[in-house]
Amino acid sequence: MINLEKLFSKNALGMKRSEIRELLKVTRRPEIISFAGGLPAPELFPVEEVKEVTDYILEKEGKIALQYGPTEGDTRLKEELVKHMEEEGLKTEVENILVVSASQQALDLVAKVFLNRKDVVFVEEPTYVGGIQAFNSYGARMVPVKSDEDGILPEELEKSIVELIKNGFRSQLKLIYIIPDFQNPSGITTSLERRKSLLEIAEKYDLIVIEDTPYRQLRYRGETVAPIYSLENSGRVISLFTFSKIFAPGFRLGWIVGSKEIIEKIIMAKQAADLCTSPFTQSITYEYLRRGYLKKQIKLIKENYKEKMEIMLESLEKEMPSLEGLKWTKPDGGLFLWVTLPEYMDSRELFLKAIDKKVAYVVGDAFHPQAKMKNAFRLNFSYPSPKKIREGVKRLADAISEYNDEIKGKKLKDAVIFP
Ligand SMILES: Cc1ncc(COP(=O)(O)O)c(C=O)c1O
Repeated sequence: MINLEKLFSKNALGMKRSEIRELLKVTRRPEIISFAGGLPAPELFPVEEVKEVTDYILEKEGKIALQYGPTEGDTRLKEELVKHMEEEGLKTEVENILVVSASQQALDLVAKVFLNRKDVVFVEEPTYVGGIQAFNSYGARMVPVKSDEDGILPEELEKSIVELIKNGFRSQLKLIYIIPDFQNPSGITTSLERRKSLLEIAEKYDLIVIEDTPYRQLRYRGETVAPIYSLENSGRVISLFTFSKIFAPGFRLGWIVGSKEIIEKIIMAKQAADLCTSPFTQSITYEYLRRGYLKKQIKLIKENYKEKMEIMLESLEKEMPSLEGLKWTKPDGGLFLWVTLPEYMDSRELFLKAIDKKVAYVVGDAFHPQAKMKNAFRLNFSYPSPKKIREGVKRLADAISEYNDEIKGKKLKDAVIFP
């Protein structure tokens, strides 16, 4: 018998199959209205344009597109990205960009180049579940920092830093991981003031800021806020972008923007991981951008998701019982919103009741490195149809009301038994 426990690395031994992903399997049943996934609406995928551009690429440069490519990525694509990002308020150059196999790989590579086991990553509370997985796989210690409707609380962040330094962890403090635009899972956007405070703290304590921003281009209302990357020039910020939510997640294509020194190091890590990101999808995407299709696609997605977000917010307003402590965020963009339940409720218990009523969400614990977000959950509005959003919210509201009556009833019974 092979003793794998002895043979696996420490990092591998620390990896766990997500209990929450197991829980989510049930949400794929066809009769369930799922607000659980973070999937784009598949009916909006630009299948015809991709077909047209793919034919063109195969015809024109098939022999190059199907070959290995440079680890850095296709220069033509990066030139298009420089233009695209300038419109987003981020000025950069081709040498500061590394094309990656979408943001999840970016997270893995960043973790790989910065983290020793037990190094500290400060994360928002709540934070992205895939970020938790990536940092966890390098044995990082994740320290959640409280957030409010303007994003992470700078004074709480500094308090944590000071405490850790006092306890002798100075050299292990490395990264601040932040999703500043329409955060996954909360839908919240970090205000400009908070972005600046965050940078001041990062500078004071010599930390790197990872700005992960897959939803930045999906703003449905309000004014855009400057990317953190554009607010400083010392090379302390790394920005992660992806085509997953604005084009097609199936392409597995994204890009990292950072100082040349950091990009150089990440290139080395990427070489060991996969040599290069698919030159074929890069060529298609370059041509897709060059023809101006991405702009049209983003416009289409924004119109569709804006409507769905408004329907979800209206439905919540209309259907939810009035309970003290029950509230939800009102995002300006993105794919998600975050519901906070009264403190006496547990979103895992409620999940079972919701499934009985054939509606699903992701429990709050999934978005906390120590699974401590008991009375909250995430709702996605990009995937379900408007009709399903209305019906699903109604079912959810019923589940919450019944759960509440049950808790209250139980308390009453307890009071009778123990007067
Ligand atoms: C905050 C955040 N980062 C990274 C990712 C990973 O996206 P991808 O690897 O498809 O680019 C997601 C996906 O939902 C996300 O929400």
